[in-house]
Amino acid sequence: MSTTNDAKRFSLPRALADAFRQNRGQARAADRLTLDAAAAAAAASASEGPVTTKPLSKSAAKKAEKREAKRRESAESTEATANASARWHRERRWGFASRLGFYDPAAPGVESSTRQMEFSHMAIASPPTSHRGLVFGVDAGSGWMIVHDPFTAYGETIESPNVCYIGDLGQGKSSAMKTWGVLRQLILGRRVVVIDKKFQKDLGAGEYTPLATRLDVAPVRFRIGGGGSRINILDPRIAARVNEEPGGGDLSTPAGQSMLLRAVMEEALARPMSPKEGKAVRMAHRQALRQAEAAAETAHIGHVLHALYAPDAITAEAAGLAVEELRGWGQDPAFELERMIEDDLAGLIDGPTSQDIQLNAGLTVFDVSALPEDGPALPIVMTIINTWLANTLYGQQRPVPTILLIEEAWHTVQGSVATVTRRNTKLSRALSLSCQFAFHHISDIPETSPAIAMLKECGTVLLYKQQKSADALACEDMFNLPPGSAGVISQLVKGTCLFKIGSHDPFEAIHVRSPLETELTDTDGAMKSTSTIAFTDDTPAAEVVSA
Ligand SMILES: Nc1ncnc2c1ncn2[C@@H]1O[C@H](COP(=O)(O)OP(=O)(O)OP(=O)(O)O)[C@@H](O)[C@H]1O
Ligand SMILES: [Mg+2]
Repeated sequence: MSTTNDAKRFSLPRALADAFRQNRGQARAADRLTLDAAAAAAAASASEGPVTTKPLSKSAAKKAEKREAKRRESAESTEATANASARWHRERRWGFASRLGFYDPAAPGVESSTRQMEFSHMAIASPPTSHRGLVFGVDAGSGWMIVHDPFTAYGETIESPNVCYIGDLGQGKSSAMKTWGVLRQLILGRRVVVIDKKFQKDLGAGEYTPLATRLDVAPVRFRIGGGGSRINILDPRIAARVNEEPGGGDLSTPAGQSMLLRAVMEEALARPMSPKEGKAVRMAHRQALRQAEAAAETAHIGHVLHALYAPDAITAEAAGLAVEELRGWGQDPAFELERMIEDDLAGLIDGPTSQDIQLNAGLTVFDVSALPEDGPALPIVMTIINTWLANTLYGQQRPVPTILLIEEAWHTVQGSVATVTRRNTKLSRALSLSCQFAFHHISDIPETSPAIAMLKECGTVLLYKQQKSADALACEDMFNLPPGSAGVISQLVKGTCLFKIGSHDPFEAIHVRSPLETELTDTDGAMKSTSTIAFTDDTPAAEVVSA
């Protein structure tokens, strides 16, 4: 095996140094010869006649030797200066230091084997990501910066721009989404749409409100019973196509009106529609569009309800049925839809779309945090927004890279809305759309849901701590992680995750936030409150004294 020192030994400076030493030896030999010659000459002249030569004393001989050494050194130094440009070791200043090797090239190397030299191998880790994209944080193993962006990496390290974040409560998923998914993306001039699910009590609104307010963006709020924004599923801006096939047909287009309407009806019925019910709803949809057009209005769900209760002769004829028969087929859907419009979805979808909802700005935040956790409102609103965005992007002339962030995305991956979500996310690449979903556990998703395939296809996966080993193992299984990854996932600390890009092995990433980002991503306001309550009998229990 050859070592670094071997390389030095055979390098040019080393060869020069050797040559220099050799010259010096020769010079010494030459000096000796000169002295010998002088001595011989002296001896010869002595034999020729009487010459008085005084033998040198011991100390005088030593002094002469020293003078000679000094002279030689100064000669060497002159020569060294001349060779300075070719020499790599430092100038000699003291002879004895030189003898100790201080200014000389390193000592020659030693012969060794790879097994012996293993100990001296300095491992140098390569960066886990390329240098192109957006900064996420640092690699916990090597300290390298992590730079990744679904759009920049597309076609290189990933084939799908979709991203999923999975982890227990409070591990930092939303922080990563708000910074790497929103703020840093906006700097690059991208469009970001957020579905903000988490109600933050200290704010009285969704957790993205501070971030939106800081950027002068007013969140679009939805609430049951009116007072919030309204979104019309039959609005041609949201989805213009009708009569598309739910599961097949032309899959190169996002979900259209018929699919959206079907998903809403099935959420209302809490079960799939029968073929007869499906037929009645399709016919009612067409009648609603026709009648609204005649009245120069935009059709909405109220028109569909009316058509289910009162199909007209044109619709019945088109269906090849008697009016009464068609009315009978549509009765159950009509009852459930009416109940849902008046109760579960009151004020949400029963009218024209509110003027304040635009998807043209850089950042749009849909605050759905006031909608009830159970019931059809959340999945329906999330699916409508998803479909609206997909259709908006489908119609744009020049694609603007867009990020759709869905917090608590498990609402969109179960039941009838899952098919719509799946269809839209399948088109992500074509639409320049990066759908980013946050989940708590994989077990939140039913095994039969199309979302399982959707998650497996995500090009970028961020896995935060999963306390339960079953949840950690489910992650290892779903994303084909190397054996032992489940153990790492269950040990992760807040703000760190296993970061997986494409088919590469995952690495442990520490998410890094700027001071502003730290302020805007803090969701611990309520937990860290220092307010106190007075402990007196006459103080009402609800009265709080601020610290
Ligand atoms: N990189 C980090 N370093 C330190 N603290 C962090 C980091 N990321 C987030 N936190 C803190 O952890 C807390 C919870 O973060 P976050 O709201 O992002 O968690 P989450 O996983 O989205 O939780 P949930 O599932 O409840 O929505 C926040 O107050 C935040 O300040
Ligand atoms: Mg969160």
